Amino acid sequence: MSTSILTPKGLEGVVAAVSGICFIDGDRGVLAYRGIDIHELADKSTFEETCYLLWFGKLPLRAELNEFKRTLAEERKLDASIINLLRQIPRHALPMDVLRTAVSALAFYDPEEKVNTPEANLHKSYRLTAQIAMIVAAYDRIRKGKNMVEPDRNLSHAGNFLYMLNGEPPSPTAERALDIALILHADHELNASTFAARVTAATQSDMHSAITSAIGTLKGPLHGGANEAVFAILVQIDKNGADPVEYIKGMLAQKKKVPGFGHRVYHTEDPRATHLRRMSKELGQSSGQGKWFEYSRKIEEYINADKKLNANVDFYSASTYHTLGIDVDLFTPIFAVSRVSGWTAHVMEQLSDNRLIRPRAAYQGPAYPQKYVPIEKR
Ligand SMILES: CC(C)(COP(=O)(O)OP(=O)(O)OC[C@H]1O[C@@H](n2cnc3c(N)ncnc32)[C@H](O)[C@@H]1OP(=O)(O)O)[C@@H](O)C(=O)NCCC(=O)NCCS
Repeated sequence: MSTSILTPKGLEGVVAAVSGICFIDGDRGVLAYRGIDIHELADKSTFEETCYLLWFGKLPLRAELNEFKRTLAEERKLDASIINLLRQIPRHALPMDVLRTAVSALAFYDPEEKVNTPEANLHKSYRLTAQIAMIVAAYDRIRKGKNMVEPDRNLSHAGNFLYMLNGEPPSPTAERALDIALILHADHELNASTFAARVTAATQSDMHSAITSAIGTLKGPLHGGANEAVFAILVQIDKNGADPVEYIKGMLAQKKKVPGFGHRVYHTEDPRATHLRRMSKELGQSSGQGKWFEYSRKIEEYINADKKLNANVDFYSASTYHTLGIDVDLFTPIFAVSRVSGWTAHVMEQLSDNRLIRPRAAYQGPAYPQKYVPIEKR
């Protein structure tokens, strides 16, 4: 096949895989997992059921869901060496970097470390999904000098995460809010981190390497790191008593991009933002911390009108997570707590019909052939 097509910068608009996992219509603002609209999933499903849907391609029967939840909860185990690793990491380390390193290290203790079969990869998907949530919660407690909390296998994935983070069972409101956030973040087609995971998997490397690649990719402020950057702005506005709109005007005047706005695929409202906006408002009101939503709303109204840009998934997740009492540098790791379900689904799909992903580059360097000049003559 000819390799002469130069694709747009950033692969914009390029269709690079066939996938049956996630459907997006960027013009209509539609997102669906396995054909089921995200609004329905956010209203009616749970993270565990969504995970089942992503991995198995259909909604589970009651018995299948119960078995799925039991298996996922049973995998709430971390080898003592991983906990030692978390204890040895410098306290200033960012949780996202800790997660990347710890997930890589998980491979050493995985009973199927060197097995790359569909069965082993499904087992690893359960394990990684359970363990990533545990690592994020455990490291936060370790860095704060608190005792680690043993997992509670009777709690939901969201409930157990909040329990291990805070040391007390969450309120039903907090548990459901996080559960919805996890559903909303679970998959998003060929986003940058999922693409990274698929590229790694396609070399016939292994699941842990693919998820480690994905975590490193999610970290960046143009991708999952945007939710932390959004909150940093809200804090600045609050600390300085600044007018939110004036603050944003100042950023735009300096040609800075406002985190939490714009999207490569959506040309209308990101359907995930609709739910996060509502949650940010409701949680803000019920916790007496409505100011974060108020600042956010003013910023959104201004950017909608002035730049014709819409809020994306990261904008209101910032104030939502803060109102749930979660530290800002855990926002992106929590994205990973959810997105691992989509990454693993994509790795399994990639391997079910694999071909090495190896594009070409259009060479624009010095014309060939150049002479090799010996070092003493340069
Ligand atoms: C998401 C994002 C990386 C998409 O990037 P992209 O598809 O490459 O789009 P571009 O960066 O080329 O943006 C297109 C135009 O919109 C503007 N724009 C896009 N996002 C913007 C933002 N958040 N703030 C201000 N302007 C923005 C760009 O400056 C550009 O304007 P120009 O044509 O006048 O130069 C980009 O919108 C962004 O950086 N957003 C902020 C980070 C973020 O929230 N990331 C999480 C995504 S879920």
